Amino acid sequence: MADSCKVISIINYKGGVGKTTIALQLAAGLASLHQKRVLMLDLDPQCSLSVSVLPEEAWIDHIENRGSIRSILWSYYEGNVRLEKDWIAEKALHAGEGQLDLVPCHLDLPDYEMRLVSERPPQAADTAEFEKSRHRLLRDAIEPYRKDYDFIICDCPPNIYFVSRSAMLASDYYLVPTIPDFISCYGIPFIENHIQTLLHDLLPEKERARNLGIIRNRVRRSGSKLVNEHDRQSRQIREMYPDLLFDACIQDRIGVSELMGQRKNIFADTTHRLQPIREELQDFVSEAIMRMNRLES
Ligand SMILES: Nc1ncnc2c1ncn2[C@@H]1O[C@H](COP(=O)(O)OP(=O)(O)O)[C@@H](O)[C@H]1O
Ligand SMILES: [Mg+2]
Repeated sequence: MADSCKVISIINYKGGVGKTTIALQLAAGLASLHQKRVLMLDLDPQCSLSVSVLPEEAWIDHIENRGSIRSILWSYYEGNVRLEKDWIAEKALHAGEGQLDLVPCHLDLPDYEMRLVSERPPQAADTAEFEKSRHRLLRDAIEPYRKDYDFIICDCPPNIYFVSRSAMLASDYYLVPTIPDFISCYGIPFIENHIQTLLHDLLPEKERARNLGIIRNRVRRSGSKLVNEHDRQSRQIREMYPDLLFDACIQDRIGVSELMGQRKNIFADTTHRLQPIREELQDFVSEAIMRMNRLES
């Protein structure tokens, strides 16, 4: 794609590794620290991102009376795939000179996802066309907005079913958060193979999303070193994917968790207690930008 917008999906088929946390902090950092225009897409029917950003009443009002990710899936069956401007919650979180918008999610998303698994719409002439057009759904819906945003960040659900696959096809990059422990890292080769096979089957090479890296979250330290298990798993990931492991990592801190419940942009906040978290997240956002620049050059 010739424009400068970058679509980044945060993906891992495991829950609880920090996909939503990383999605929000990356978006907030790009908007607040780097004055970027950022659109977040909450693709997980658990709606964690939506309720971390919008007050509950505003979220319910938005999804009931305006629109949500569910409306995009619905638009496919109307024969007119789109994202309407009204479905976007503008300036959902304060971001200084930047812009931080959100398309919230609806708890009913899985019902609509099921329909996309089984029901071919009239405009898809055959099964092959159905396979292609439904996977391109998000890509087609956000295409007109690429000129309005510098980044579009997709918070994926903890699976690689239809919505995640559609996000993969819409993305320029994907980023894999993990906790550096045995269970959380176990599936990384599987995700990588799965995504590569999917992209290979459905997109020409130059349009396929690239892996931006693996970011460790909820890391535990003992003194200045990582605890044994986290250190061991980190070394294993680095051996397996020497270029992919972020140097930055996010420590396990209650303050990170609290941020999500407070609908607070840490980068627009000056609380002293949050400074170590802010610094870690800043490093992560800077490294993400550096990695993108490296892949672009
Ligand atoms: N670095 C961290 N330190 C402490 N708690 C965290 C951290 N990252 C995430 N959490 C908490 O862990 C839980 C899962 O995180 P979340 O981002 O929702 O994961 P996912 O989207 O992968 O399911 C949430 O309660 C979140 O607040
Ligand atoms: Mg999540």
